[in-house]
Amino acid sequence: MISLLLDKSEKTTLTTISMKVSLADLHAQYLAIKPEVDAAIHQVIESSQFILGKAVSDFEQAFAKAHQTKHCIAAGSGTDALHAALWALGVGKGDAVITTPFTFIATVEAISLTGATPVFVDIDPETYTIDPEKLEECLRSKRGNAKAIIPIHLYGQPAAMDSICEIAKKYKLSVIEDACQSHLAQYDGIFVGNFGVAGCFSFYPSKNLGAYGEGGAVTTNDDALAKRIRLLRDHGQVEKYKHEFEGHNYRMDNIQGAVLGVKLKYLHKWTERRRQIAAEYKKHLAGIGNLVMPYELSEARHVFHLFVVRTKSRNALQKFLTENGIATTIAYPIPLHLQKAYRHLGYSKGDFPESETAAQECLALPIYAEMTDEQVEYVIEKVKVFFRD
Ligand SMILES: Cc1ncc(COP(=O)(O)O)c(C=O)c1O
Repeated sequence: MISLLLDKSEKTTLTTISMKVSLADLHAQYLAIKPEVDAAIHQVIESSQFILGKAVSDFEQAFAKAHQTKHCIAAGSGTDALHAALWALGVGKGDAVITTPFTFIATVEAISLTGATPVFVDIDPETYTIDPEKLEECLRSKRGNAKAIIPIHLYGQPAAMDSICEIAKKYKLSVIEDACQSHLAQYDGIFVGNFGVAGCFSFYPSKNLGAYGEGGAVTTNDDALAKRIRLLRDHGQVEKYKHEFEGHNYRMDNIQGAVLGVKLKYLHKWTERRRQIAAEYKKHLAGIGNLVMPYELSEARHVFHLFVVRTKSRNALQKFLTENGIATTIAYPIPLHLQKAYRHLGYSKGDFPESETAAQECLALPIYAEMTDEQVEYVIEKVKVFFRD
């Protein structure tokens, strides 16, 4: 854990004793909030109310307040949140829903689960989010049955929501934001989760705001939609064993609500630390070899769920960093249109060239609030060594 600056005949050389840097350190995060989180979990166990309950409803209110939305409906996962939002909007068989193939499969599974057909549009190569020009091109050429669009705020950066919302309005499409990776991110000073009719979040443990298990939520400013999602979440029950319509079980555990309620209080601080690390990476790594830094839109406040660089030497860089104790990840190595699971959609290699190239060149470096300055420095040094040698 030590890095030393040694002076050698006028030249300053950085030598580092090797260390381990993981992709996240959930245990360090737990230790930082242990008394509070233990007490909150204990309280739920004492109450014996394990499904939904006070901790969940308190968290819903706090999360809605944090994102300045009217409603927040907690769910079992981000996948649940996406599916419930689409279902509540009446998306189903015969409809098409537009998104990109450069995302986690859950975005597209949620579409298929409703019976609708996913339609892919390529990403912008700088932001990795849906390219508004290509979106419009797609709608012009085969608008047909498109009912909704799911822009993904990938890696923590909001998609170009001004253009996307304008296009959606023109073509009468509902916008459902996949904000699973972008808690507290902003576009034009507005929090994600406010641009579409619904915003869907994930609280998977390694997310910027992570539960101690599965969790998700939908935010909306639409009263009727909020009511419908709340009912869908609990088998369409208006009261015990009285079902207005069929729904599903998308309920959040009360223990997760308690954990998330505690963690949410720290999210602004943790997000600041992520942004600080990102700034440090950019300061030292921009212009090194053929490495491309993440591009931050001037309208956006990126929350750096992942710090994704790109380089033509991606695989070699990843191998080198692994050998030096630095964990990295590739999000995502195979775009969805080339996955066996989506062969039936009829896409081929070459259909979405930007997604395909990104899949070959992207690499996420470690970034998390508990990372020490020494760890950040170590990652920077090793990346520099890779491109120097
Ligand atoms: C972009 C994106 N969409 C959807 C999901 C699904 O969330 P969950 O894993 O909570 O179901 C995730 C999280 O893994 C995600 O990163």
